[in-house]
Amino acid sequence: MNAKSLPIVRTVADLRATVAGWRRAGETVALIPTMGYLHEGHLALVRRGRELADRAVATLFVNPTQFGPTEDLARYPRDEAGDAAKLAGAGCDLLFAPDAAEMYPPGFATSVSVGGVSQGLCGAFRPQMFGGVALVVTKLLLQALPDVAVFGEKDYQQLQVIRRFVRDLDIPVRIEGGATVREPDGLAMSSRNSYLTPVERAVAPALNRALVRAAAALGGGRDAGPVLAEARASILAAGFASVDYIDLRDAESLAPLERVAGPARLLAAAWLGKARLIDNVAVVFAPGGSES
Ligand code: PAF
Repeated sequence: MNAKSLPIVRTVADLRATVAGWRRAGETVALIPTMGYLHEGHLALVRRGRELADRAVATLFVNPTQFGPTEDLARYPRDEAGDAAKLAGAGCDLLFAPDAAEMYPPGFATSVSVGGVSQGLCGAFRPQMFGGVALVVTKLLLQALPDVAVFGEKDYQQLQVIRRFVRDLDIPVRIEGGATVREPDGLAMSSRNSYLTPVERAVAPALNRALVRAAAALGGGRDAGPVLAEARASILAAGFASVDYIDLRDAESLAPLERVAGPARLLAAAWLGKARLIDNVAVVFAPGGSES
């Protein structure tokens, strides 16, 4: 294989110069923000970006402001060379890989705080996360000024938070969600799956199985309380150490729901060894359908 190597820029000035050249040629630009250690889920977002725009820019930055003090920032997996090769193969045109000083120079003192959709779910267990995500994504959008930015639905709450602040702050970019890419046994692809031991990896698909089963029951009209309790019990019985949450929410506002009557989402986070796995599925309202 003779893969084309991917241009890498590390400064905002170089990113802007490259994008400006494309703009002068009348080309449109898609941005795909990532924290690296890329898998097929990320590459699908890059391909989607390439369908939506003439050029795709991926970003690689393990953003310290979205990690809490006891979280996995230091051990978050990293492989820039491997990522660059994968991105080149997926048709990416440019990688923006700044260091922390480029993103947060001395004296940095600004925050971006998003209410509403940031609260509850992961926001309750990782209080630092969505402020950090909103800050870094705001910066990346203003640095690259893309036409469209693509984010995975695997991080469903994150996607809704990003849609919210982009609307609230009038940032002129279209936000596009990309479907979750799964392993053949249903496990959602995630860079953090690399933390799983082989035994834990065999247990991990139980999270998605429980969500799919519960979503069918909820879509059939059952009350959330007992369905979610059964799902939680089945995740623990499979071998997960604890369940941070499993919750039925309105698909857009993420307001809690007792019953499904329109677009809804079932979301969960659970601990397996050193990995905190998250997943979510759409709940399709189909009264009289499957209630298994
Ligand atoms: O989903 C991620 O990888 C990160 O939260 C993001 C959006 C790149 C911001 O750091």
